[in-house]
Amino acid sequence: MSTSASAAGIAPAPSPQDFVRTTLELDEVVLRPWSRDDIDEPTTLDALVAAANDPQIALWNPLPAADRDAAAKWLEVRENAWDAGNVATFAIVENTRLTATTDTVPGLLGALTVRWTDRADGLAMIGYWLLPAARGWGLATRATIAAADWAFATAGVRRLELAHAVENEASCRVAARSGFPAEGVLRASYRFGDGAYHDEHLHARLATDPAPEPAGGRG
Ligand SMILES: CC(C)(COP(=O)(O)OP(=O)(O)OC[C@H]1O[C@@H](n2cnc3c(N)ncnc32)[C@H](O)[C@@H]1OP(=O)(O)O)[C@@H](O)C(=O)NCCC(=O)NCCS
Repeated sequence: MSTSASAAGIAPAPSPQDFVRTTLELDEVVLRPWSRDDIDEPTTLDALVAAANDPQIALWNPLPAADRDAAAKWLEVRENAWDAGNVATFAIVENTRLTATTDTVPGLLGALTVRWTDRADGLAMIGYWLLPAARGWGLATRATIAAADWAFATAGVRRLELAHAVENEASCRVAARSGFPAEGVLRASYRFGDGAYHDEHLHARLATDPAPEPAGGRG
């Protein structure tokens, strides 16, 4: 009788198309996988609640984190998805190696997610949000380029899609600057935080596309 790895208590080897927990360093900021420690960290839970209450995030990227319990649940779901290798959610945080701080929890700036939409076909989708203080210095573009490069190189992503409401001009600029040309309009394709269906621009970058121009840092 054969014994499966999980039945024997041995973690299965990751498949080539699993998203595997990785930290991506961008000088002054770091994209790091959320960890189970975050669930026990009130500062982090409060930052997620603040993010959920930000009007722009609530409208364009609603976050189910109305209170600490909901934020903890959101983190738990994200952790399980990392374990399964099918959704990669990073916290975007200040790089404590560079910012001499005594805080044990570095400042949360935002989050970025890469998720499979059709793993067998190499099709994935990317999304992001930043807290207000982190906007306006090109961070979303740099984070998107780094995460896309990582997904193409390590998980066999063939085509990475990015969709945003047509009214969300900042996200449209992030997509274009990150090497995701616009491909068309998806009519009434997604229900956003205002409860209404909005048209979206669909952008995509292929693994075979040329790398975008390097984006600058905090300017
Ligand atoms: C969208 C978001 C991630 C952009 O990130 P960012 O790092 O702040 O982006 P930037 O400030 O560098 O702006 C990118 C571009 O959009 C432009 N822009 C910013 N706000 C804008 C606005 N309200 N209207 C039009 N253009 C805007 C900037 O001038 C910049 O243009 P450039 O490329 O010519 O320099 C951030 O605004 C955010 O988190 N918004 C709320 C959540 C959200 O919309 N998530 C995306 C869902 S698809």
